[in-house]
Amino acid sequence: MTQLDLRGDDRVLHVAWPDGTSADFPFLWLRDNCPSGFHPQTQEREFDLTGIPANIAVTQASVDDGSIVLTWDDDGHVSRYDPAWLHGHRPGIGLADPARIEPVLWRGDLAPESLPRASADSLMSRDDALLEFLIETKKTGLAIVDGMANDEDAGMAMARRVGFLRETNFGTTFEVMSKPNPNNLAYTSHALPLHTDLANQELPPGFQFLHFLANEAQGGGSTFCDGFAVANDLREDDPEAFELLSVTPVPFRFQDEDYDIRRHQLVIDLDPFGNLQELHFNAHLAGIFDLPADRMEAYYRAYRKIMQMTRSKSHVMTTRLESGEMVIFDNRRVLHGRTAFDPNTGFRHLRGCYVDRGEFDSRIRVLSRKKTG
Ligand code: OGA
Ligand code: ZN
Repeated sequence: MTQLDLRGDDRVLHVAWPDGTSADFPFLWLRDNCPSGFHPQTQEREFDLTGIPANIAVTQASVDDGSIVLTWDDDGHVSRYDPAWLHGHRPGIGLADPARIEPVLWRGDLAPESLPRASADSLMSRDDALLEFLIETKKTGLAIVDGMANDEDAGMAMARRVGFLRETNFGTTFEVMSKPNPNNLAYTSHALPLHTDLANQELPPGFQFLHFLANEAQGGGSTFCDGFAVANDLREDDPEAFELLSVTPVPFRFQDEDYDIRRHQLVIDLDPFGNLQELHFNAHLAGIFDLPADRMEAYYRAYRKIMQMTRSKSHVMTTRLESGEMVIFDNRRVLHGRTAFDPNTGFRHLRGCYVDRGEFDSRIRVLSRKKTG
């Protein structure tokens, strides 16, 4: 049976569950999260936190018919909580989230055959297959869909099954092929060193979907590298370089006739908990570094070091994608590139689009919800 102990001096309710776990719940937190304060349909909070005194306290606490029942001292309001709900929301443990999936780091020895892979048919028609595939894709940050229809819109249809598309200055979808008057190196036949797309954007796009409609030219192989593994290894090998890359903003820029989009970014971006959040790495979009002269050389040393790592066999995975395949990767984690191709030897045409991380995670949560209930 759940045990309650009202600790008025500490302004907490101590709860001990039958499984041996226990936690302290601050009074204000309990009042703020009283189930009666949420709209029953939308589950949004309607309770006004400024309408209660800051020193609000519980006068009575009991377990009644399986619920924890509290009475409040300001207006006599009675709150009822499910002990299992409180257990799942113990302060300090972090909220449960089906989309919180730890990245599994990989390096150059990852065989392309062992990447997560699924058929377009199964992903388009089965929610359980889609959920499993999205979870695996989130772990590696890189996956392949095969059996794609020879239809220019098939990649977008698949991406839309995950979430709405992220539009950019290149459109809602973009054609990667050798074009006259290219506004982007991707639209030439040149090699593209490993990079993340659109590092110049305020928020670079999340997951990239690249459908290989044709890859018949000589060359045009694909390269990938796990930026989180690179950053992780750099942190161990050369903490000074890691530190510089994670605190020094540098400029990125894209410009053509219609746009001039610029942003300073950290090459290695950590979240407030110190975990790797994303990489911004794109040598062709890097602007003119504007650091003070006395910090330039140290920064260049660090920048060249990570650049060398993105070219080393120990981190880079090389493969060749064929028409009918689509690669999906987290553009804010996994760097991608290609070898040069000869447009005179055959046609090469990729069609790409993006779905941001937030929508990707949302699909994982909603599909998990269906699975459990
Ligand atoms: C791009 C790109 C890869 C390729 O369009 O940004 O990286 O294989 N393309 O052409
Ligand atoms: Zn790219």
